[in-house]
Amino acid sequence: MLKDEDRIFTNLYGMNDRSLRGAQARGHWDGTADILQKGRDWIIQEMKDSGLRGRGGAGFPTGLKWSFMPKESDGRPSYLVVNADESEPATCKDREIMRHDPHTLVEGCLIASFAMGAHAAYIYIRGEFIREREALQAAIDEAYDAGLIGRNAAGSGWNFDLYLSHGAGAYICGEETALLESLEGKKGMPRMKPPFPAGAGLYGCPTTVNNVESIAVVPTILRRGADWFASFGRPNNSGTKLFALTGHVNTPCVFEDEMSLPVRELIEKHGGGVRGGWDNLKAIIPGGASCPVLSKEALEGAIMDFDWMRDNHSSLGTGCMIVMDNDTDVIKAVWRLSKFFKHESCGQCTPCREGTGWMMRVMDRLVTGDAEVEEIDMLLDVTKQVEGHTICALGDAAAWPIQGLIRHFRDEIEERIKHKRTGRGASVLAAQ
Ligand code: NAI
Ligand code: SF4
Repeated sequence: MLKDEDRIFTNLYGMNDRSLRGAQARGHWDGTADILQKGRDWIIQEMKDSGLRGRGGAGFPTGLKWSFMPKESDGRPSYLVVNADESEPATCKDREIMRHDPHTLVEGCLIASFAMGAHAAYIYIRGEFIREREALQAAIDEAYDAGLIGRNAAGSGWNFDLYLSHGAGAYICGEETALLESLEGKKGMPRMKPPFPAGAGLYGCPTTVNNVESIAVVPTILRRGADWFASFGRPNNSGTKLFALTGHVNTPCVFEDEMSLPVRELIEKHGGGVRGGWDNLKAIIPGGASCPVLSKEALEGAIMDFDWMRDNHSSLGTGCMIVMDNDTDVIKAVWRLSKFFKHESCGQCTPCREGTGWMMRVMDRLVTGDAEVEEIDMLLDVTKQVEGHTICALGDAAAWPIQGLIRHFRDEIEERIKHKRTGRGASVLAAQ
């Protein structure tokens, strides 16, 4: 387990002073100008060497993404945009950073923007995060007042402005290009990629969109060194990370630990174990609703990182795990996710708009057992026709939990169909 001195987020539980004074006492904003003086190339190389992969869910290498930004200006300004629209079901890690350690993010914005030649950054925060928005705005105001951002930020000679923009409750606005549309004042609908934002992002200008945690860890990585960060986890999956445990654990929580630790160890050490003990575990969803479900049997030797999850037909996602015990109707749980994705689809592309409806209607019947066994393969086929055929990843996200369900729980679905176990599922559907 991670030692206290290796934690980046030293105020995750709000036990200390989150103001500038408290943040500085814990080592934040220490020598920021010295870091900037080492130059853009040094910062980007350190980020590459640290092995940090995006903490929003997709795991794209952060330093590599930064390196896509133009070195020389062609007359267009460059921007950093921080995705704080944390809306993935079960995901609540960035919220804790903004509530209790907001200066990690503000300082990270300055350093990351400098490294990408951006004089302005926008933090797009989920509309429902009212207290978090207040805490973050207070930190931004303090940083301006102390001369840490604004003109000659932190005495570095770099001018830098930071703006906080509020979302209005649409899940799709967490998709990076829908977020950019929303920031521009338009309806939040994803754009086709390419071009990626580094080529044409906010207002058509070079832009990098990063997750809150990805930016908030930057100052500590640069202060302590890329090697220090890379010493945690395993190659290609390095560093410390915020994880969360929700559902049927004894103590749901958000915590920081090393990457690549055994799933069982994380659940037992941080979450107090599965309700009723490990043998009572039925399934997990590793990192938010967009990941395929994994059964207990599939967790033999499981470790919590990008590569293990990918190699075992799931994904790490946000690392915020949903734990389900044997009392869970896992078919109904996945049906609920289908309903969510259908509701949140922006409707712009046909496979997602129509496919999410199709998938949900078949799931309706699987929950009640009122389906034909052949429909299981038909449903799988529909998920394959949606996956990879849409403008943004929402279509994939809608398909994956169902694919995981069929992979691991086909017997249970067939059993339900055969026995027409309609009672429980039918009453739940009626109540929704
Ligand atoms: P993605 O894989 O398309 O992109 C990831 C990042 O890498 C983006 O910033 C993209 O611009 C960049 N990128 C990818 N390929 C590139 C290339 N060839 N050149 C330049 N840049 C490139 O994934 P996306 O759609 O950004 O994220 C999907 C994930 O987000 C899901 O897997 C899910 O886990 C997660 N998610 C997280 C939520 C949250 O609340 N944190 C909400 C919903 C989804
Ligand atoms: Fe909209 Fe779905 Fe297409 Fe994404 S995949 S653009 S959410 S319709």
